Amino acid sequence: MARGRFITFEGGEGTGKSTQVGLLATALRDAGIDVLETREPGGAQGAEEIRRLLVEGDVGRWEAMSEALLHYAARREHMAKTVLPALDAGRWVLCDRFADSTTAYQGFGHGLDRAALDQLHRLVVGEFVPDLTLILDLPVELGLERATARPGSETRYERMDVDFHRRLRDGFLDIAGREPGRCAVIDASGTVDAVHASVRALVGERLGVPLG
Ligand code: TMP
Repeated sequence: MARGRFITFEGGEGTGKSTQVGLLATALRDAGIDVLETREPGGAQGAEEIRRLLVEGDVGRWEAMSEALLHYAARREHMAKTVLPALDAGRWVLCDRFADSTTAYQGFGHGLDRAALDQLHRLVVGEFVPDLTLILDLPVELGLERATARPGSETRYERMDVDFHRRLRDGFLDIAGREPGRCAVIDASGTVDAVHASVRALVGERLGVPLG
């Protein structure tokens, strides 16, 4: 059986990733593809438990490297228990955030050394890379406005200062510039339908799947 494809969605707060994951999943299922929707941090039982430690509570509760280690612990669980088994079973996996979020948030945002993060990445993730990464890009103020309008307790990152969010936005654009073959940047300031049209077009073009 052919291995499934791994598509990741990345971007800052309030960029509409989760909505776009759901819409792409529906479009792929309509095209007869078996799809798994998942997210990071989370997507496996232990990883969801770690998620709560990361997204709730005081902004300053973790030292930056501890925070990166928690994200990578969650990622390892998620890959081992959810992502890799699904891909091996031929399913396509759509993931709301993956390792580029650690580079952007903990690297560019918190200022952790890139080489140290790369070492951690190799140790935990190895050579595994997404087939396609869609980076939803939005001005920071607009994204934070959208994000803070949502109810819920998962607000730890939203409460970090605006310069942190500016740095991680630049981080995502830097990643996209370094790896244009894997990544595509999508302007997320349009309507949900307009962004979805860009997502469909990119998936069609890059992964060779006709989506109507
Ligand atoms: P979400 O709200 O998009 O589900 O993501 C949860 C938060 O976790 C979000 O604010 C970004 C943050 N995050 C990191 O800081 N590093 C990571 O590696 C990941 C996956 C998420």
